[in-house]
Amino acid sequence: MKITIVGTGYVGLVTGVCLANLGNITVCYDTDKKKIKQLQEWKAPIYERGLEKILKIINVSQSKKKIKTKKIIFTDDPQEAIRGSEIIFITVGTPPKKNGKVNLSFVKNVAQTIGRFMNGYAVVVNKSTVPVGTARLVKKIISRHNNKNFDVVSNPEFLREGNAVEDFTNPERIIIGAESQKARKIINNLYRSFNCPILNTDIETAEMIKYASNAFLATKISFINEIANVCEKAGADVNGVAKGMGMDSRIGKSFLEAGLGYGGSCFPKDVKALHSIALSNNYRFKLLKSVIQVNNDQKKLLAEKVKKLLGSLKNKKICLWGLAFKPNTDDFRESAAVDLIRLFQKEGVATSAYDPKVNYEEFINRNNFKSKINFHLDKYAALKNRDALVIITEWNEFKKADLNKIKKSLKNPVVIDGRNIYDLEKMKKLGFKYVGVGRQKNKNS
Ligand code: UDX
Repeated sequence: MKITIVGTGYVGLVTGVCLANLGNITVCYDTDKKKIKQLQEWKAPIYERGLEKILKIINVSQSKKKIKTKKIIFTDDPQEAIRGSEIIFITVGTPPKKNGKVNLSFVKNVAQTIGRFMNGYAVVVNKSTVPVGTARLVKKIISRHNNKNFDVVSNPEFLREGNAVEDFTNPERIIIGAESQKARKIINNLYRSFNCPILNTDIETAEMIKYASNAFLATKISFINEIANVCEKAGADVNGVAKGMGMDSRIGKSFLEAGLGYGGSCFPKDVKALHSIALSNNYRFKLLKSVIQVNNDQKKLLAEKVKKLLGSLKNKKICLWGLAFKPNTDDFRESAAVDLIRLFQKEGVATSAYDPKVNYEEFINRNNFKSKINFHLDKYAALKNRDALVIITEWNEFKKADLNKIKKSLKNPVVIDGRNIYDLEKMKKLGFKYVGVGRQKNKNS
């Protein structure tokens, strides 16, 4: 059976490579020639733990065994990708428009391409996060270009960046929204070796499950951030509060880490999209509006803390550790670093930065910053002559950093920790002026 993946972003590439690794014949198609060329040379265009390793294994097995049918093919030729394919995954981006609505142009283009080249029965599986009703729209567009029999299925993906290979291979659940029993059977069969429950639903419910899940997790984060803000005023410790709350299995302990709020390519976009989907269905989703507001405010509150500790921000020199929206990824989309650099630069701050994985050139090219940022390849060098260190991303190497070296390198021993990675008492003993988010007491008390 030939499986095609249209779009080789985080979701598409991981889906394609993992399905090939499970023994399926997989074709990964993208219109981005540069990306395809890189993949044809067996290089991953993104940093994702474990991905290069699987690519290497497939490459070795393909070249050594001289097998007739290749397990994975990377192509920018739509005809080669779609003809003869029995399952076609749509895994393209659904970026937000300025008004928060979902830009479906990539999904619509893919539907057209499928319609032009599909030459026999195929199940078109939508993995992109799309508003309710999109699968039906995809069906309509394909039908306009093709009179072959086909079905459209919704199969949302829940993998996290940085943990994508593991999440794809060992998911907690698989959602399959289908109308036709034939298509449902084919997709259930594709996932037969996965060791998790499969929930079969109608198409619209599957589409909504993805938004509801992401919006709920984002709500949890904004909730704990508001608790943190109250903790600071009331003299409690949010880490202890989160620990105590998480012991209740009805609440659960994950997604209760207070800090700079959620970022990345999914949560910010999906929360806004669900808010706007509700509005276009004549419903005001009041809760989500606050979730968004709280998330935006967390960065402003942190900048206020820096200002308070330094007296003023004007002409100050600040170092940021971390530019990625979370650890173990090179992705900086909607990262708190971008907002904070903008806020700082507006107030006349000179910024330096260090991140172990983010490509500095891309970071600059994709964000229109007012002034220069001094990027460093060594985290301690980035601290030289700086008035304060601001922790943006909780990379392991920051958690394990030499605190004495941090103190020696900085001009002033001031650390504002947006991710609560250091021990309050220890920092105090070492002579740091140190603040986190929602912490008055020792982290471990
Ligand atoms: C998320 C969903 O988890 C995933 O299921 C979906 O498919 C895509 O969106 P991802 O964006 O990769 O995945 O990152 P995730 O690990 O969920 O973190 C999202 C953001 O929330 C990050 O900015 C992270 O720093 C923040 N976060 C997470 C918190 O601030 N506190 C927490 O307790 C957890």
